Amino acid sequence: MKNITVIGSGTMGNGIAHVFALNNYKVHLFDISTDALAKAMVVIEKNLDRQVEKGSITAEQKTSTLQNITSSASLESAAKDADLVVEAATENSAIKLELFKNLDALCNPGAILASNTSSISITKIAAATKRPAQVIGMHFMNPVPVMKLIEVIRGYATSDETTKTIFEISKALGKNPVEVNDYPGFVANRILMPMINEAIISLHEGVAGVEEIDTVMKLGMAHPMGPLQLADFIGLDVCLFIMNVLYEGFGNSKYAPCPLLKNMVTAGYLGVKSGEGFYKYTKGSKDLVVSGMFSK
Ligand SMILES: NC(=O)c1ccc[n+]([C@@H]2O[C@H](COP(=O)([O-])OP(=O)(O)OC[C@H]3O[C@@H](n4cnc5c(N)ncnc54)[C@H](O)[C@@H]3O)[C@@H](O)[C@H]2O)c1
Repeated sequence: MKNITVIGSGTMGNGIAHVFALNNYKVHLFDISTDALAKAMVVIEKNLDRQVEKGSITAEQKTSTLQNITSSASLESAAKDADLVVEAATENSAIKLELFKNLDALCNPGAILASNTSSISITKIAAATKRPAQVIGMHFMNPVPVMKLIEVIRGYATSDETTKTIFEISKALGKNPVEVNDYPGFVANRILMPMINEAIISLHEGVAGVEEIDTVMKLGMAHPMGPLQLADFIGLDVCLFIMNVLYEGFGNSKYAPCPLLKNMVTAGYLGVKSGEGFYKYTKGSKDLVVSGMFSK
């Protein structure tokens, strides 16, 4: 496995390309947006500079990492030599099913097709291809160059051989792969999102205020960030989307998204990305200004 194609060059795609290229893989980065591709190369260079400043990589490693990445707006050329494809396009079933159908037709028969999806069924994605044994979830965490976990998700038909290969590659990237089966939310979001939802329910029912809830979880449970601030960072729209995946996937009312979460998303209070969620942020940054509407 030497040639890696990364599909989607947004937040996750540029981090995934960065980590593979730093570990001497040849990376072909593809996006439908040429703007997104250009922006990704700027972000990767900035993040590499930060690593050089911190002394975690050398200036030569930065240069070779950048040389290992080719960007392209053609799926055909990005896919044709790939040994492994890691898809990190927008979280939308229709987009991913279409991509996997096309990748299956364009890639070598031996290539493995992985998805970085947070919530879409790997079994469903695999069913869009004629190689379901070679389709797998490779769920990196944000920020990819920093976070050690890769949740490796086996679809219903994923083979032992594919899983073993992805474990070996994950370790070669300096990451810790963990094997999980394909059920709604996998493990990470099945546990994280109901915790965030419960924090929002506690706020909604007046059990405590925004800062009080976050302080209890930070100081009491040693979480680096409270669940409401974490929801702002993830994006309240993303949290709602994943709660709905759990709710529909299990058909169990314990996963029903909190009405306050739904209202905030409808009103456009999405967290950091919109400038306000449970807290207010300086425009375009994660710098916290003050608590938002619910502590007024
Ligand atoms: N952001 C996170 O914290 C996080 C964490 C883990 C997993 N994920 C998953 O990673 C994936 C990407 O998320 P993101 O946050 O990087 O999104 P993003 O919005 O930052 O980037 C998505 C990119 O995909 C591109 N794209 C859309 N359709 C495409 C297509 N057909 N072909 C190629 N590129 C296409 C867009 O132009 C965009 O550049 C999603 O599946 C998401 O669930 C996100």
